[in-house]
Amino acid sequence: MKLVTCRKMNGVCLLFLGVFSDPVRVKVEGFVGDSAIFSCSIPESEIQGKTEEFSVHLRDDEGKTVCDITGGNSTCKDQDPKYKDRVETFPDEYKKGNFTFKLNGLQKNDARKYICHITGPSQNHTITELHVKDRPGGRGNHGRLNGELLSIVYFLVIFFLAGILIFMFVAVTFCVARMVFRY
Ligand SMILES: *[C@@H]1O[C@H](CO)[C@@H](O)[C@H](O)[C@H]1NC(C)=O
Ligand SMILES: *[C@@H]1O[C@H](CO)[C@@H](O)[C@H](O)[C@H]1NC(C)=O
Ligand SMILES: *[C@@H]1O[C@H](CO)[C@@H](O)[C@H](O)[C@H]1NC(C)=O
Repeated sequence: MKLVTCRKMNGVCLLFLGVFSDPVRVKVEGFVGDSAIFSCSIPESEIQGKTEEFSVHLRDDEGKTVCDITGGNSTCKDQDPKYKDRVETFPDEYKKGNFTFKLNGLQKNDARKYICHITGPSQNHTITELHVKDRPGGRGNHGRLNGELLSIVYFLVIFFLAGILIFMFVAVTFCVARMVFRY
């Protein structure tokens, strides 16, 4: 096992784990509402203008269809409703052997394994383990921020009231003293 690279993209951190044996295992982290990238590629040298001869299948670990690329076109026609309108591919990248998929609008229940299978003149089998985290600075942090603001406001109010009390005390003492000494 070897840590190859960790890249930040749209709050998604890709951790490529493992050596290049079959299947490739990848860990991806994303925040709720963000998107995740599922890498799926063969070396550019093996494409040689034969993009149409490759079939690419992305499935989740329940066997649901996320999306397919066949004949050089992405066809999400047998796609599970869960993934409807949430998957993008990058057609300009196909000729480089890059059949990357992007899943948008991440939800907590998207956290699972995804299997990408490339078949054709050459093969690839990549398993991506997706983790979906709550966005930092969500409700919890706002609560803490509001709490801090509230305590500052309380402090200022108490400070102000104490100031008035001290001023009144001094003023009364001064008046009383003047009265006592004058008469
Ligand atoms: C298989 O796909 C992964 C993910 O795109 C890539 O890192 C790896 O180099 C590919 N392996 C082969 C033999 O094409
Ligand atoms: C892919 O798209 C091209 C252009 O839109 C079309 O000519 C071709 O028939 C499509 N291939 C498949 C397998 O659907
Ligand atoms: C594949 O294409 C995607 C989308 O353009 C890009 O983010 C990614 O870096 C590409 N991967 C490779 C191995 O070129």
